[in-house]
Amino acid sequence: MLIALFAGDGIGPEIVAQAKRVLDAMAIPGLTYEAGLVGGAAYKAVGHPLPPETLDLARRADAILFGAVGDPDCDSLERHLRPEQAILGLRKELGLFSNLRPAKVFPELADASALKKEVASAIDLLIVRETNGDVYFGEKGMRKTPEGLREGYDIMSYNEEQVRKIAHQGFQAARARRGKLCSVDKANVLETSQLWRDVVIEVSADYPDVALSHMYVDNAAMQLVRNPGQFDVIVTGNMFGDILSDQASMCVGSIGMLASATLNDSNQGLYEPIHGSAPDIAGQGKANPLATVLSAGMMLRYSLGMPQQADRIEAAVASALANGARSFDLGGTMSTIEMGDAVLAALN
Ligand code: IPM
Ligand code: MG
Repeated sequence: MLIALFAGDGIGPEIVAQAKRVLDAMAIPGLTYEAGLVGGAAYKAVGHPLPPETLDLARRADAILFGAVGDPDCDSLERHLRPEQAILGLRKELGLFSNLRPAKVFPELADASALKKEVASAIDLLIVRETNGDVYFGEKGMRKTPEGLREGYDIMSYNEEQVRKIAHQGFQAARARRGKLCSVDKANVLETSQLWRDVVIEVSADYPDVALSHMYVDNAAMQLVRNPGQFDVIVTGNMFGDILSDQASMCVGSIGMLASATLNDSNQGLYEPIHGSAPDIAGQGKANPLATVLSAGMMLRYSLGMPQQADRIEAAVASALANGARSFDLGGTMSTIEMGDAVLAALN
């Protein structure tokens, strides 16, 4: 099975290197790797954030292990050349629409949460975020108002097919967990959200065993801090899911801990930490590789059909933490490589 390694920008190469070390140490038969250029690194090397060779490799691969994209050097490029277009382009071109972002507190890290320990300890939720539509992919541009003012615009839309597909993902995930699904929208203001809510309710007829609730996104942001333990699975659109998943990461302790999977209809997947390229700490050995290591675990589970190997990675991360491994974001002093060492030691 072929795994594409797209390290990308900033801390991307450092964290992907540690995840690769962990995979290598597990000596899983039949895995092969090919590296490709994405993001600002690709732009600087060949003039495009998602070069054709990279896209081709992505299509051939069974799974993609992705670091991060984003580079301040590229901030003034035209939008279609910016690093972020690599991840957006991969999601779109490969039909990767179902972004799974689990957030669960490791008991050892409850103190690192921005929330009170007893509130944080109850967190065990999964955000199912749609990633092929919404305001991310609508028509966008700059124009002038009749008065001559500059105006930026981005059209938000979802069609019923897109909502139906992600709703099924949400219900199925809830069914495999604690049977609760909360659909997050802004139906009190947005037509896009009204359609979203209507379709989610239609789909719910197929899942009488799942308890469905609806929440406006502003309330959901508040509830995530007030009482995050109430959530099992949250299903939401691209934009709201982007925001809520960053928020959820701080609720569990650190954004350096949250892994994600983005799947298409054939369970081909892209696996990445939810954090970005963190250019401020790039190259300093300060990044926490655990979100990427856990993403590699999700890859083994969802795209490669190796649940025992996935369990093994998760157990190694948990025991590394239990043994006191702490990177800077977790209030410790261990380097990226030392965190990798700690996971390797726990594997064996
Ligand atoms: C994420 C990131 C991306 C997004 C950026 C890098 C385009 O924030 O995966 O959450 O907004 O989806
Ligand atoms: Mg984000």
